[in-house]
Amino acid sequence: MAVLELDNITGGYGETEILHGVSLKVEAAAVTVIIGPNGAGKSTAMKAVFGLLRLSAGRVLLDGEDITSMATEQVVRHGVCYVPQTANIFPSLTVEENLEMGAYVRKDDYRPRMAEIYDLFPPLAEKRRQAAGTLSGGQRQMVAMGKALMLKPKILLVDEPTAGLSPKFRGEIFRVIQDINSAGVPILMVEQNAKQALSIADRAYVLVDGRNRLEDTGPGLLANREVAEMFLGAGGASVGAASGVNGSGAGSGAGSGANGA
Ligand SMILES: Nc1ncnc2c1ncn2[C@@H]1O[C@H](COP(=O)(O)OP(=O)(O)OP(=O)(O)O)[C@@H](O)[C@H]1O
Ligand SMILES: [Mg+2]
Repeated sequence: MAVLELDNITGGYGETEILHGVSLKVEAAAVTVIIGPNGAGKSTAMKAVFGLLRLSAGRVLLDGEDITSMATEQVVRHGVCYVPQTANIFPSLTVEENLEMGAYVRKDDYRPRMAEIYDLFPPLAEKRRQAAGTLSGGQRQMVAMGKALMLKPKILLVDEPTAGLSPKFRGEIFRVIQDINSAGVPILMVEQNAKQALSIADRAYVLVDGRNRLEDTGPGLLANREVAEMFLGAGGASVGAASGVNGSGAGSGAGSGANGA
């Protein structure tokens, strides 16, 4: 059984319908990736899981349980954690305070979990007393994921973790995603860097205009001609030809990433 399933989700914001019947499954132990052009509804599909959308049809199932009309806080309590595309850390708080914020609904002793998070992200252990906003873009993304993982989620949803990062940090983040997954957490990730994301995906979906367009294993989609034309560009560059949002600006220096501000 899938850990998470979107079953024919139709809905959007106010009167505007953005998703026109989107379906996808995240199997236990899998890294599942969504790619698609800007505005396709990738982030919106994630928000649907958290009751942040007006749905006119479809269901969200968690371990087979219908959570479609559940309040956001309840969805989190049920073990679904979310790292949003932007504003995903508290820059003026220290690394450790960010992790504490991630644990705020826990009533038990969260320190053992914090130690596990530091084991997973050694650079964060070193910088635990530093304001998170002073870290590099890649490390801030680690803080955002560490914060989400404090709740020992059943599943982690991550929206474009490598946006604005230099290639070096991107690779680091994809490795971190695989480490988190190897530690037993199923992952649903939206990514613009299609080539790298598909290469680590057990299952992958292409969304276009609020609809499912293609679905396969990651390597299967990597070999798909339409995917190559849409996202990989001539010569297989990792930047989405249809989107063009990455590959500029961020540089590699500390504090230069575009995330989390
Ligand atoms: N809060 C909102 N209120 C109204 N419309 C929104 C809202 N958020 C997104 N939209 C619209 O919904 C559509 C899908 O947006 P969404 O953010 O889901 O796309 P995306 O696939 O995540 O794109 P990107 O690659 O740019 O992140 C867009 O037309 C966008 O303008
Ligand atoms: Mg988005």
